[in-house]
Amino acid sequence: MRLKTILFLVVAIPIVLIAIFFLYSYIQSPPDSGRDLSLQKGIPYPALMAHRGVAGVAPEETTPSYLLARELGADYLEGDIQRTKDGVLICLHDDSLIRTTNIEEIYPDRKDNTVNQFTYAELLKLDAGSDFNEMHPEWARPSFKGLKIITLDQLVDIAEGGINRPGLYLETKSPERYPGIEKDIVALLTRRGWIGKPTQQVESLEEEESKPAAPAVQVRNMAGRIIFQSFSIDSLHAFQELAPDVPRVYLFDQEMVEEAGGFPAILDRAQTASADAGPSGYMAWPWYTSQIHARGMIVHYYTINQSWQMWLIHQFGADGIFTDRIDIALDYFGRLKSANLEDYFKRINY
Ligand code: G3P
Ligand code: CA
Repeated sequence: MRLKTILFLVVAIPIVLIAIFFLYSYIQSPPDSGRDLSLQKGIPYPALMAHRGVAGVAPEETTPSYLLARELGADYLEGDIQRTKDGVLICLHDDSLIRTTNIEEIYPDRKDNTVNQFTYAELLKLDAGSDFNEMHPEWARPSFKGLKIITLDQLVDIAEGGINRPGLYLETKSPERYPGIEKDIVALLTRRGWIGKPTQQVESLEEEESKPAAPAVQVRNMAGRIIFQSFSIDSLHAFQELAPDVPRVYLFDQEMVEEAGGFPAILDRAQTASADAGPSGYMAWPWYTSQIHARGMIVHYYTINQSWQMWLIHQFGADGIFTDRIDIALDYFGRLKSANLEDYFKRINY
């Protein structure tokens, strides 16, 4: 075979294969299906989730991180929920406190203990802001020093405390360590009026939007005001039993897909809890997204922090993203009022 022919085949074959995959995706689910499905479920499209607040520019899952996300205009405040030894629901990602706090200084003998081995009063002695200042000098602020680990109740206060009305996107982290945590979460959100009350103001959303002072974010008033998410299908089954009307999202990564026996198998598993999909961003290919839509499910990818990734994933049909840089995502989607983050820090007094 001549060299020219070989070169032609090397270029042409991948192009043809990609074109076939795109065509296959298009046939499986038309481009607008994700938007339609999201809106039917009462979830904004595209949904922009402030992952651990604005964790790229402020200490994750702390008050300023979530205040900033709310003021910038995130659709959802995302948080990882765990429970202290004395039963307080808190927002914290890791099993241990080493990465995000000064536990080695305050409780050196207990530094490797998991979060559930501390009371909330004990956790309040920790500084959850200074490590961020050290790790991210470009974003460091004196006001971050001494920040506290916050409770789920405080996160709800933040969501309710401004003009914007974001929703809550709550993950049960290591739920096997916390028997009954789903019941505790549902009880708290019921007490706070986020579950069990009829969806308010949905009918008047259009009217509200036409008023000049209407909040930019109204997710609190939509049916999908809360979304429960977990890497544990058992945890999602528990939520399904306790609060069937609250949307659920099954989080998964490539390893879980392989363990389940393939992409269709992991979606089968999600559907046992009537859950939507929350895959790692590495799987945001259109042929996966279209398989998800073809089942009547929506898909939110984690964790997407660069604007070129946002562009690509949006072109590939994602219904939403989790991001540590909600400012970049809002800017990309033309929803950022001011490009100067300092304006927002001033507004939240940090
Ligand atoms: O909730 C989506 C994403 O947060 C899952 O990953 O580890 O950041 O909680 P992780
Ligand atoms: Ca999470």
